[in-house]
Amino acid sequence: MDRFETLDSLLQEERVFRPLPQLVIEANVNPQELGAARRQSEYDPLGYWEEAADELDWFKRWDRVLDDSRKPFYRWFPGARCNIVYNCLDRHIETANKNKLALIWEGEPGDSRKYTYFELYREVNRFANALRTLGVQKGDRVVVYMPPLPETVVAMLAAAKIGAVHSVVFAGFSAKALRQRINDAQAKAVITADGFYRNGQVLRLKDTVDEALVGACADCVESMVVVRRTKVGVDMVDGRDFWYEDLVRQERNTAPTEVMEAHEPLFLMYTSGTTGKPKGIVHCHGGYMVGVHRTLTTVFDVKPTDIFWCTADPGWVTGHSAVVYGPLLAGTTTVIYEGHPNYPQADRLWNIVAKYGISIFYTVPTVIRMLMRFGVQHTKRHDLSSLRLLGSVGEPISPEAWTWLYKNIGRSECPVIDTWWQTETGMFMISPLPISLLKPGSVTKPLPGVKADVVDREGNSVEPGKGGLLVIREPWPAMMTGLWNDEDRYREYFEKVPGCYFAGDVARRDEDGYIWIQGRADDVINIAGHRVGSAELEAAFGAHRNVTEAAVIGVPDTIKGEAAKAFVVVRSGAEEDDELIKDLKRHIRNELGPVAVLKSIEFRRKLPKTRSGKIMRRVLKAEETGTEIGDLTGMEDDS
Ligand code: WTA
Repeated sequence: MDRFETLDSLLQEERVFRPLPQLVIEANVNPQELGAARRQSEYDPLGYWEEAADELDWFKRWDRVLDDSRKPFYRWFPGARCNIVYNCLDRHIETANKNKLALIWEGEPGDSRKYTYFELYREVNRFANALRTLGVQKGDRVVVYMPPLPETVVAMLAAAKIGAVHSVVFAGFSAKALRQRINDAQAKAVITADGFYRNGQVLRLKDTVDEALVGACADCVESMVVVRRTKVGVDMVDGRDFWYEDLVRQERNTAPTEVMEAHEPLFLMYTSGTTGKPKGIVHCHGGYMVGVHRTLTTVFDVKPTDIFWCTADPGWVTGHSAVVYGPLLAGTTTVIYEGHPNYPQADRLWNIVAKYGISIFYTVPTVIRMLMRFGVQHTKRHDLSSLRLLGSVGEPISPEAWTWLYKNIGRSECPVIDTWWQTETGMFMISPLPISLLKPGSVTKPLPGVKADVVDREGNSVEPGKGGLLVIREPWPAMMTGLWNDEDRYREYFEKVPGCYFAGDVARRDEDGYIWIQGRADDVINIAGHRVGSAELEAAFGAHRNVTEAAVIGVPDTIKGEAAKAFVVVRSGAEEDDELIKDLKRHIRNELGPVAVLKSIEFRRKLPKTRSGKIMRRVLKAEETGTEIGDLTGMEDDS
C-alpha cells in the first residue's frame, strides 16, 4: 500500500476541539443518542432509515424499506407514494410554521424579499399552475437556468409539485454547455431571468438561452419563462417566451400536488466525470427526502428559531440539498444572496449574517480563503453573535482556514462542521455533529446509517494512517437512482472497487477513526469547490482550429484550491504566441463558461502517453507540482 503513502497530506494536525457544554446539552442528538444511532445502524440500518422516513408525510406507506434485488439499481421505499414538495410546503401550512419565514432573499444591490411558508406555498402553487397551463406534465424535464433568486426556488418546487423533473444549470455555464444539457435532458421548458447583478454589473442571461436554443438542436423546448430581474432589454419570441409575472398573475393560489412513486425522478443535476460528457445524476422524491431531512436536521441541529444560510448557488447540488430542499423539509428559514461575496466590499457576508441574525452559516473553503486575505477588520465591524454553527463543504478545508473561521467568525465557540458528500450521494455522508470532537481538516466519521470505508483497490480496509480509496459499502436512501439515459456509466461507480460504491476520492483514516479527505483520485478538477472534468476541458480545447491535442490537469491555487492548467499541442504552422493564448482562453470561456477557470496554458511538442495512446496526466501533474502522486492508472478511465 506504499503507493498511497505519498498521497498522505502533510497535515500533522493534532489539535482537538471540544464543543461547549451548553451546546451538548441543547443538541437535538446528544452523545448517548448518537451512540445508540450508530449501534442501531450497525445491526439494523434499514430500521434506522425507516424511522427517519416516519418523520415525514407519505401518501402511501412503503411495502419494504429497500429493494436490492437489482443491484446496483437500488430502490428505497418501494411501493410508497409521496411528493417532496408536500413535505417542504404543504404540511407546514397546517402548523405554526405557516406564518414563519421560509425564505429570506437579498439581492446584490441591497434589495430584499421575504416569504413566509404560506406565501411561498401560494407562489409555488401559482407557478405550478402556470407550468401546467404551458403544457408541462408529470415526467417532463424543465431546465432552470437562473441566478439565485426567490423564483429559482419557486421554479424548482413548482416543477417538482407537478411531478416534472427539474434540471438546474448554473448560470455560469455557457450557451453551449446549456444547450448540451437541454438536449440531453430533452427539456420541454426553460426557466430563466432577463439578467442578474454580479460584482456591481448587470449580467445578461436570457440572451444566453436564446443562443443555446438557436438551430434545430434544442427543438424539444416548447416554452421559455423569463423572470424580470434587471429590466435589461430582451427579445421575446412570440408563442415561445413568456414573462413569469404575466403567467402567475392569472393563476390560482392552490394547486394539486402530484402523487409520485417514491423512486420517481425529482431532479437531474449534471456534473463532471472522467469523460467529456457531463453526467445527469438522477435523484428521486422518496429516498432523497428521507436522507436529506435526517442528515440536515441532525448535522446542523436545526432548531425552530434558526436562520440557516448556505452560501451555495442553487445551481449545484449543495444548493438543492442545503439551500432549498433540506431547510424547507426541516421547516427552517433559508437565506439566499444573489451576488458576489466581496461586493461592495469584503464584509458583505458578515453584513448579511448580522442583518438577519443568521445562526447557521454553511460555506465553501474557497470563500473562506478569499476572505482571509482581506483581514479580520471586516469581521470585527459586524455583530456575529447570532452564529452558533459553521459549516464547510466542497473541498478539503485546511487547518489554517478552519481555525480562521472558528476564531474570527465563530468566536472560538461555534463548531465548524466539515461535511463530505457529493452530487451522487445527495445527502451528507461523513460529517461531525455539533457534539463531536473536532480536528481541523478532518470530516470526522461517517454519519449513522452510512457505511464509509477507506480501502485498497481490492476493497480491503486499509490500516489507520494509510491512504486509500474512499468508498461506501452499503446503499443509503438519498443515493442517486441512476444516470439519465446511461445505465452503463452508472454501473461504473460500483465496478471500480469490488462490492463498493467508489466516490472518486482518496482519503486517510487516523488512529481515532477520523477521516481526512485528500482530493480526487480521478481526472476531476475541483475548482473553487466546483467539479470540472479534465476531459471536458480537453474536448473544448480540441474544438479549437489551432489545437491538435491537449491535456488538462489541476494545479494548486491559493484561493480556488485547484485551478486548471493546460498543455497544448498546436497544429503545425500555428504561432505559439500570446495572441493564441488569449484566443484559447476566450474560446474555453465560450465553450464552457466562466466556471472553467484556466490558470495557464503551456505549449508542448507532444504529450506523455501510455502505450495504448492514453494521455498520462499524472506525469504532467508530477512535473508540475514536484510530487509523485502514485500509480493510480488502474483508476483512470480508459474510455
Ligand atoms: C469534494 C459537493 C473535502 C470531493 C457537495 C467530492 C470534499 C466532491 C468535501 C463532490 C469535504 C466535497 N472535504 N472534499 N467536506 N465535500 N468534497 O459533486 O472531492 O460538487 O468528491 O458535491 O467534492 O463535489 P460535488
